[in-house]
Parts: sequence; C-alpha cells; structure tokens
Amino acid sequence: MIITRPPMGWNSWNTFGEDINEKVVMETADFIVENGLKDCGYEYVIIDDCWSLRERNEAGEMVPDPEKFPHGMKYVADYVHSKGLKFGMYSCAGTLTCARYPGSYDHEFVDAKKFAEWGIDYLKYDYCYHPETTYGHIVYKRMALALANCGRDIVFAACSWGAENTKTWIKETGAHTWRSTGDINDSFASIKNLAQDQLKLMEYNGNGCYNDMDMLVVGMRGEGNVALTGCTNDEYKTHFALWALMGSPLIIGCDLRKADKDCMDILKNKVLIDINQDEAYRQPFICNNRREEREVRKIDEPVYKNYQVDQPVVARFLANGDIAIGLFNFLDRKASPFTNLDAFGLGECTGKTLELTNAWTGEVTRPKNGLIRAELEPHSCVVYRAKVVDAK
Ligand code: GLA
Repeated sequence: MIITRPPMGWNSWNTFGEDINEKVVMETADFIVENGLKDCGYEYVIIDDCWSLRERNEAGEMVPDPEKFPHGMKYVADYVHSKGLKFGMYSCAGTLTCARYPGSYDHEFVDAKKFAEWGIDYLKYDYCYHPETTYGHIVYKRMALALANCGRDIVFAACSWGAENTKTWIKETGAHTWRSTGDINDSFASIKNLAQDQLKLMEYNGNGCYNDMDMLVVGMRGEGNVALTGCTNDEYKTHFALWALMGSPLIIGCDLRKADKDCMDILKNKVLIDINQDEAYRQPFICNNRREEREVRKIDEPVYKNYQVDQPVVARFLANGDIAIGLFNFLDRKASPFTNLDAFGLGECTGKTLELTNAWTGEVTRPKNGLIRAELEPHSCVVYRAKVVDAK
C-alpha cells in the first residue's frame, strides 16, 4: 500500500506511558469524533508500548495484558472502527520493546498476522534491543514484508530515531513514516532541539515516506509520561506550526479528555493542517535573508547557517501555487527574522507580490519594500499562507 499524506491521530505514549488501558483508548476515540478532531483529519488512535503481557503464549504469540485490555484487541479495534477511525499499535524490531515487553524480532510474520486478525491499520515499530548481529535496514525490511503480506493494509511507522544513518536506507524498506529525530518531551528546549535537527533532514522528507518528528506535546502542560517543564501557549503554537510546516505526521500526545480551548484551537488550526496535508507534499526549504549576506551562495556551501538555527524562516511550495512561509524565533529574546520576495523569484520585474494570510489571526497583509518580516516575542512564530497576486 501507499499513503499520500502524513498520518494524523493520537498516541498514548506521551501522556499515559505504561498506564494504558481500553477505557482511555475508547474514550479518546469518542472525544476525537465528538469534538470535531475527526473532521479536521485526525484519524489514527494508536496504542504505544506496554500493551502486552511480558511473555508470549505457547503458540509464540503476543498476548494483550488482560488487566489493561480485558476484552482483547479486536474488541478495541472494532470499537475504534465503529467510530469511523483507524486503529494503531506498537511493536519493536528488537527482542524486547523499549519498556522491555516482547519485541517482534524473529516473530515478524507471526505478529503481522495477529495484527491483521485484530484489525490494526498502523504499526509503530521501535528500535530498542535489536541484536547487534543484524542491520537496521534488514529488521525494518523484514517487518515491512511481513506487513505487506499479512492481508491487511497497515501503515508502517518506523521509529529508529535516525540511528545508523536511517535516512539513507529507510525509503527502500517500505516504511511509510520514519522517526528522523530522538524522543520529544514537554519542554520548549526539546521542541527547539528536534526542529533544529530536522532543519538538516528536510531534504530527506518526501511523499510516501514522511519524516516523523515525534508525537505532539501540545496541551500536555507539564502533566504525563514525557512531561518536563511544560510549555506556554505561544510555545505550543510554535511547536504545532513547525511540525505542520515541516511535514511531520500530526499525532496528538496529550490527554484529550482534559484538553482546554487553547489546546483545541491549536490542534484544529485549519490553515496549518491544510499546509501539512498539502497534496503536492513538496519538501520544505530554508529561505532566511540577511542584508549583509546577499552574495551568491557558492555551489557547495551548505544552505544551513548559524543564524538560521535560531531564527529560521521555513517555506513550502503548495499544490495550488500558494507558498507556506513560517518565521520562527527560538531565542530567549525578541527577534525579527525575515525573508524577501526575491527568495521566491518574485523580484520587482515580475510585477507580482504576495498576499499573506496569517495562520493564527486570519489577518491579510502584503510585504513592505519586498520584505516579509515579523517582530517576534521569544519562542513565538508567524506562519503565512501566501498567494501570488499582482503588485498593483
Ligand atoms: C521509544 C520511542 C518512544 C516510545 C517509547 C516506548 O523511546 O521513541 O516514542 O514509543 O520507546 O517505550
């Protein structure tokens, strides 16, 4: 199977960790439908690590923990499907999962068959405890083949955190998404680190096999399994805008049942979701300008420069001819990142300019003196959906 958009949904890990059970999963599915998230495109309800017993059964199969999932997994999958949603689960390419439950190494075809019987639509596949005697690309290929031959369409979400140069081999394995960076936690430092790492990996992103920047922490507010300092609302907005613009899967990680209005407004931002899910799915690019650095870039000079790390301007060409442009301030002080019309080939001679619709406020403006510039508070951002229009 192929997929044509980065998956959107919810995953249990960020908030619930080991404390996962059918009630949480089913109530979250209800919430997604009843509160308009399904209509925004959120589709996959995914159980992460810690769902099984510590041992396989005599037939060599994984067994759902009967205390957490007393009715088994097919029951949960059927419930999620009855809501018009899709169901996801988790396993690992090693002998154990990261939390030391059974992994799928050497059981790939048995497990894929079971997952298909239960009715899963998505498998997150981690990389802990993989035997040193084999290679990353081999274990991911093995599960990809098992899934492709299990009789059910299952999205294969690889999660090797970029290890062993994953970027060079992941597309050949058949994975639909790949975790390009390490684990997230609920702090701005983590969001910034992942985004800065991702700036160097954007060229590996592309249709059919999407760079996955990890699950969202929007709305966690310092509570749950990967909670740390928590974030301000501006920081959660910056986080969501980065993940949307850079084309990551949008997998919610907070306890939705406790979500407040600010959190829901971020998760439902239609302009950003449309950018994320754009049908052309073109690679994002960095387009900062500095007046003192207008000289022509040498052919082998990296696009990625120091000032872009802290105040990146990231853009993406969209299918209908619009451009998504995000200006970000990662610094602890105010900053004014900018780009200009020239960065998109819209010099004065073209007679064209851009009409900029602010993704957060809906306000429509135009560049002044050819500049697209934002004065940003610490850790905040502006994202525009820009339309090419006549300058006059
Ligand atoms: C790894 C993954 C996380 C999560 C945990 C579960 O750390 O990167 O996303 O799945 O394992 O143990």
